[in-house]
Amino acid sequence: MRHLMSPLDFSVQELDQLLDLASDIEKHPGKYAHACDGKKLATCFYEPSTRTRLSFEAAMLNLGGSVLGFASADSSSAAKGESISDTIRVISCYADICAIRHPKEGAALVASQKSKIPVINAGDGGHQHPTQTLTDLMTIRSLKGRLGNITIGLCGDLKFGRTVHSLINALIRYENVKFILISPEELRIPDYIREDVLQANHIEFEEVERLEDAMGELDVLYMTRVQRERFFNEEDYVRLKDYYILTKEKMALAKPDMIVLHPLPRVNEISTEVDDDPRAAYFTQAQNGVYVRMALILTLLEIEVQEETC
Ligand code: CP
Repeated sequence: MRHLMSPLDFSVQELDQLLDLASDIEKHPGKYAHACDGKKLATCFYEPSTRTRLSFEAAMLNLGGSVLGFASADSSSAAKGESISDTIRVISCYADICAIRHPKEGAALVASQKSKIPVINAGDGGHQHPTQTLTDLMTIRSLKGRLGNITIGLCGDLKFGRTVHSLINALIRYENVKFILISPEELRIPDYIREDVLQANHIEFEEVERLEDAMGELDVLYMTRVQRERFFNEEDYVRLKDYYILTKEKMALAKPDMIVLHPLPRVNEISTEVDDDPRAAYFTQAQNGVYVRMALILTLLEIEVQEETC
């Protein structure tokens, strides 16, 4: 039985296979409509979510399965003090696979160690968000045609942004990927990513403060919001929240085929006027989240769908 805690849980070859499967699901959804008949997905979300929870649920419904779960800690017995270990032992009796989002780093890992069903980390605190990374990889691969030979700018809250941490971990495994890390001093990438991931693997990267200075070099710009929920005080959040706002003027500095990604939700960091720019790919990215989660559910449940016969 396999779980997904980090994008590194899959080899590059397995990731390629998963992304191929997601692309096939996008092209031929009918082929997969009954692949999970009789199977149940539990979504256990101790933190707010729109895309991750609902795209997981849409994914299982598209596969013919059913969903159950809770959308906040308050509406589960966590509010009465139940541990995540006990919760997953019980959920294992009710469902075939489980996606967990939790504010504490490592919570999904703890759950996986007690689980009798595959557990998917749907975001653990400021640590990792591997299914967002699968979504990001699918979007980059389909729009740029490759995952190697790119310069990617990661902009905003690089300290608390778990999607950024997971994406860096995943992309360093491809050839010739250069990172430009764009953040204010206080929101720079954590030392463990800079030293243990980038420097230890001799990956080319720069840290800059001005988005304008990086724009012209980028193949992909990955914007992120400032993570209000992880700040210790509101004053710091208010001071930093509008540090970067992507506007039409800044887009004019970019290559004509650069793409803009954002895991969403957006607050202010991309002006809505950018939405009509053909390079804005963040809503396509959210759509891809359904296909990769369908592919992930099939992979972890070891369900193979045969080619249709006429
Ligand atoms: N991208 C993402 O994780 O969005 P949600 O918080 O809405 O799930």
